Amino acid sequence: MLQVEHLSKSYGKGKRRKPVLHDINLTVGKGELVGIVGESGSGKSTLARLIMQLEPVDEGKISFLGSDNFYASNQIVFQNATAALNPSWTVRNILREPLRMMKRNRDAYISTMLGKVGLEEKHLDRRPSELSGGERQRVNLLRSMLVEPKLLICDEIVSNLDRLIQKEIVELIRQLNRETGMAILFISHDLKIVQHLCDRVYVMEGGRIVEESVKRDGGFSFTHPYSLLLFE
Ligand SMILES: Nc1ncnc2c1ncn2[C@@H]1O[C@H](COP(=O)(O)OP(=O)(O)OP(=O)(O)O)[C@@H](O)[C@H]1O
Ligand SMILES: [Mg+2]
Repeated sequence: MLQVEHLSKSYGKGKRRKPVLHDINLTVGKGELVGIVGESGSGKSTLARLIMQLEPVDEGKISFLGSDNFYASNQIVFQNATAALNPSWTVRNILREPLRMMKRNRDAYISTMLGKVGLEEKHLDRRPSELSGGERQRVNLLRSMLVEPKLLICDEIVSNLDRLIQKEIVELIRQLNRETGMAILFISHDLKIVQHLCDRVYVMEGGRIVEESVKRDGGFSFTHPYSLLLFE
C-alpha cells in the first residue's frame, strides 16, 4: 500500500549541501508491521517526514495504493508526545479535534476507543501536563488512531519511556495491528523491540537502506556487516 522508489534528499545549498537519503526503496503492504532500524542520524525521521509529505522530496517517488484521502489514511506519531499535544487543551478536546467532521456520537466513539489504548474516562478531563509520559503517548497514539488510518508511522514512540511502559505500548501496537489491520511502519533504534514486534525490517546506515530481512522462525537473519554489527 506504500511504495517508496529511488528516494533521495539533501539539506542545504551549494557547498553546504548535505545528502541525507540516497536512493531509498521500500514498501509496506496492507496490514504489515514493518520496522526501520539504524543508528542516530541515519535518516529515519527524515524518511518518515518525506513519506508523510511534511517536506518535499528531491528525487524519487512515494505512492500510496488504494488510499483516496491521504490525510485520513496516513498518520504519524512522534517520539515527543509532550510537544505533539496542545498543553492548554484537555484530553477530551485533543481527541475530539481529529473527529471534528463527525456530526454525532463523537464522545461515545472516543469512550469506546479509550479502552483500546489503556486509558480511562478519568483521563479525559486532564491536560497533558497532568498525565505520565506513558499516558501522554497513549493519548498521542489514540489521537492518530481515531481516523482509522490504513498506515500508521511510529517514529521512536517508546524511546523516552521506561522498559515496562515500552513493553505495554509495543503490545498495544501489535494488538491494534491485529484488530484493525492497519499497516505500521515502526521506526526505532531499539533492535530488541523491532525484532520482537516486526515481521520485516529495513536496516539503514548513513542514509541508505543496506539490508532488508523477513522474520522466519521468530527471528531475522542478516548478511550485511553493518546489520550484523547492529544485531550482534
Ligand atoms: N531540517 C534539516 N536541515 C538540515 N539537516 C537536517 C535536517 N533534518 C535532519 N537533518 C540531518 O539529517 C541527518 C538525518 O537526520 P534524522 O533526524 O533523519 O536521523 P534519525 O535516523 O532519525 O536519527 P535519530 O535516531 O537520532 O532520531 C542528520 O545528519 C541530521 O542532522
Ligand atoms: Mg529520528
